[in-house]
Amino acid sequence: MLVTGGAGFIGSHLVERLLAEGHEVTCLDNFNHYYDPAVKRRNISPLLEDKRFTLVEADIRDMDTLRSLFRERRFDKVIHLAAQPGVRLSLQNPGLYMNINVTGTLNLLEALREFGTESFIFGSSSSVYGATEAIPFREDGELKPISPYGASKRAGELLCEVYRHVYRIPIVVLRFFTVYGPRQRPDMAIHKFIRQIDRGGKISLYGDGLSRRDYTFVADIVDGIVAALDKGFAFETFNLGNSEPVALRHLISTIEDCLGKKAVIENLPEQPGDPFVTYADIEKSGRLLDYRPQVKIEQGLERFVRWYEEAKKQG
Ligand SMILES: NC(=O)c1ccc[n+]([C@@H]2O[C@H](COP(=O)([O-])OP(=O)(O)OC[C@H]3O[C@@H](n4cnc5c(N)ncnc54)[C@H](O)[C@@H]3O)[C@@H](O)[C@H]2O)c1
Repeated sequence: MLVTGGAGFIGSHLVERLLAEGHEVTCLDNFNHYYDPAVKRRNISPLLEDKRFTLVEADIRDMDTLRSLFRERRFDKVIHLAAQPGVRLSLQNPGLYMNINVTGTLNLLEALREFGTESFIFGSSSSVYGATEAIPFREDGELKPISPYGASKRAGELLCEVYRHVYRIPIVVLRFFTVYGPRQRPDMAIHKFIRQIDRGGKISLYGDGLSRRDYTFVADIVDGIVAALDKGFAFETFNLGNSEPVALRHLISTIEDCLGKKAVIENLPEQPGDPFVTYADIEKSGRLLDYRPQVKIEQGLERFVRWYEEAKKQG
């Protein structure tokens, strides 16, 4: 199996799970500098000992490398998580998102067209729903991306549809909803809030604090990905969310409780590109993947904060 972006936050949790289940896993990652690459090296360092784990340092924009990798290994399954994330940066540097998230995805699909696979999983995002007012978000509902990041993920989905249609490649598109938990990307809101509240610094609260996000614990996301691997779908799209949106103010007060510290809040205007609410309808994922998220936000934050404190002790 191949996991692209396997050294990242979600990818490293997935690789861990796949190895624990006895699979051979190749992790492809370019350790880019969007956040400290040393964090990504730490994510996978315990896995390097495992003989069934192979690390390939490469870039999905490099078609020649992809082609020779696929020729040599003939992956039975490919889970594509490598991407440039981050809504705000995507407004400043949209071209980067098109190169990595669109052209990079196209390169993988091209490699699959040449060398075949039993299943391709595309890690998409709730940001494809953007400003839709059809809430909760259903897989067959309206899509209105409002950031270049959201548009790049939607473009990746559309390329998947095309490659299914023309080349009969079996594909599952999974739309992840704000994923959190140990090893979360340091640029993401929950991780930033925990760090800043812990250090007594100011946290930036955009808008009135009533915006809501469907925060999903990383182990639940991994359950959903693993479930999608073996079902033999021709082409399906699924939401992987918690289906319980949480208001920003509630999120902050729960983090305060977990840390036993008070936040110093700086109120700032709403940010362009950020939807007011994200809310997954998970009826289809429940029915076809048996996907049932287990971790409530209070428990998930408690586990995240415990991990954060442990990681801090180890420097
Ligand atoms: N974290 C979330 O809340 C969330 C929500 C929706 C969708 N997603 C999607 O899930 C996937 C994983 O996200 P994450 O939060 O773990 O991010 P992450 O940045 O921790 O992981 C992505 C990994 O991909 C690698 N990568 C980036 N560009 C690459 C390239 N050109 N070639 C090879 N490797 C490259 C990075 O080095 C990184 O290790 C992404 O596709 C992201 O868009 C994440």
